[in-house]
Amino acid sequence: MDRPTLYITRLLPQAVMNAIPQHYRVLADSTDRPATAHELGHGFSQADAVICTLADRIDVSILSQATKLKIVANYAVGYNNIDLSTAAQRGFIVTNTPDVLTDATADLTWSLLLGVARRVAEGDALVRTGHWTGWAPTQMLGTDVTGKTLGIVGMGRIGQAVAYRATGFRMSVLYAGRHAVSSPPGVSWTRQPLDTVLTHSDYLSLHVPLTDTTRHLIGQRELALMKPTAFLINTSRGPVIDESALLAALEAGTIAGAGLDVYEHEPAVSPALSSLPNVVLLPHLGSATLETRVRMGLICLENIAAALEGRSVPHRVI
Ligand code: DGY
Repeated sequence: MDRPTLYITRLLPQAVMNAIPQHYRVLADSTDRPATAHELGHGFSQADAVICTLADRIDVSILSQATKLKIVANYAVGYNNIDLSTAAQRGFIVTNTPDVLTDATADLTWSLLLGVARRVAEGDALVRTGHWTGWAPTQMLGTDVTGKTLGIVGMGRIGQAVAYRATGFRMSVLYAGRHAVSSPPGVSWTRQPLDTVLTHSDYLSLHVPLTDTTRHLIGQRELALMKPTAFLINTSRGPVIDESALLAALEAGTIAGAGLDVYEHEPAVSPALSSLPNVVLLPHLGSATLETRVRMGLICLENIAAALEGRSVPHRVI
């Protein structure tokens, strides 16, 4: 029997590469750059299994080049980059990497929240540029986090992990989500309609997947409902926010600031957004710890082995 071909669209951590079973034929580009559509098509035409990333657009034109493909293992928890209906029609299995990146993403959400509340990036820039002249009572004043209200939109695994961390800051937690979830012992998370969460939160954090329903979930109307002192944090997917409405709200002072890890037209970031001092901007680092990125890769390999061996596939999306 021919060795199965595994196509990997992007350089992965070495520990993941080392764990690839010896009997696979690996098709991978060692240069660390996004694959072109042509390269994706070629890889899919050869592959029994693919590991792709959230930056690869796996649409009908790519999927239709597959000749013997069994599984597309997405190296992410979100899978909005894959045309699921075409994949399903073609009988391909699609998997993701849930659970293993929950804590890393929740931690990064808190980095953004604290960073924007306490002006960490601005402070860092002041010191580095040599413009700091010493401590002053009114210098670079931020906003309290402890005791404030945290609003969470989307109370899945990551939303809950973010809410859980709020306990140490003695925050009240409101959330809008499709399902009620139970609060951990000793705290009470309150489920409310989205508009109520928007109106009452001091910090609003987004944790919904990108779907037709959640695209531009936060637009001009929603931003106008938020407090002028509130901060918006997004570590989910960029298009969940209407970015031009956000820019207008930040410029007009409709809200106080934003912490963003994801962008509507990623990796493009509007220069107007980058010029605002009251935003903290990160380059989609939600799951970016070495331990997490290795675990994500191992999950992809586990899903692929199961699919190729005809066993039940653990993290199946379709
Ligand atoms: C995911 O897995 O969807 C994250 O956005 C990756 O960082």
